Amino acid sequence: MTTAVKPAKEFLDELWESFMPLHKVAEIQTKQFFAEQGKDKKALENFFHIRLSNERMNMIELSKKVSELPALTDPEECRLLSKQAWDEAEHFRIVYEVLEHLTGEAPDLEAIWKAYGKVDVRMGASLIQKYEAHGNPIMMHLYQYMAEGRAAHVWKTMAEVAGDEFIQKRYDRVARDEKFHSNIGRLMLEKIVTTPEAQAECLSYVKEMVWDLFECSCTSLGDFKTASPEVQQIMLEAYGEPHRGLCVAFNGKEATSKNPNEAVAA
Ligand SMILES: [Fe+2]
Ligand SMILES: [Fe+2]
Repeated sequence: MTTAVKPAKEFLDELWESFMPLHKVAEIQTKQFFAEQGKDKKALENFFHIRLSNERMNMIELSKKVSELPALTDPEECRLLSKQAWDEAEHFRIVYEVLEHLTGEAPDLEAIWKAYGKVDVRMGASLIQKYEAHGNPIMMHLYQYMAEGRAAHVWKTMAEVAGDEFIQKRYDRVARDEKFHSNIGRLMLEKIVTTPEAQAECLSYVKEMVWDLFECSCTSLGDFKTASPEVQQIMLEAYGEPHRGLCVAFNGKEATSKNPNEAVAA
């Protein structure tokens, strides 16, 4: 039996479409967080402390990635990834400026890093580590395509709901960068998802990444212990039952571990 292979571009377009429910979930949760906690200065500060720490971690992870690229790596790929590492440093600075703008004083980097400097489920950086660890190009580029695309949508939503021109301008800039990072992943994938086996492999990883990114979204946006019924419905309809326990309560099942936000608050 021969398995049909789709042109890589068409396959990747369809894949992008399949991420839309996940983007929708992140958008709903972002809006919900800002509507419920946007006026609470402490909650907002904590939220941006997590964002600041995550951007710093992204910068570290991407710089590591650049320094470990094999000698025979395509020069264009070297250039694009180095640009991404620089962008993440820019995002670190941008969130720093936003915190300064919100509080009127320079953020205490030492205290923030002490509280949030550990790589955990709230940080997309923990997933970069997870998907880089195997040295599998499909896994790495797919994660980049998917996660950076979702991040772009989150920053775009934050820019819309920020209600502050200073913040909005900066978040629009970050959203554009994250979309560019997603496109780097796509560009790399175009070269390798050209066989039925590679496309099947890609689809099998998507199943895991969807739930990883969902957990990241639920836990990074404040004190979420669970997901709202609306969000649960979207996930179930689009992706079915999760294949493993989640760290947030979902579809009548208890959370499998303690929400790290509670650990920090304690
Ligand atoms: Fe970033
Ligand atoms: Fe990024």
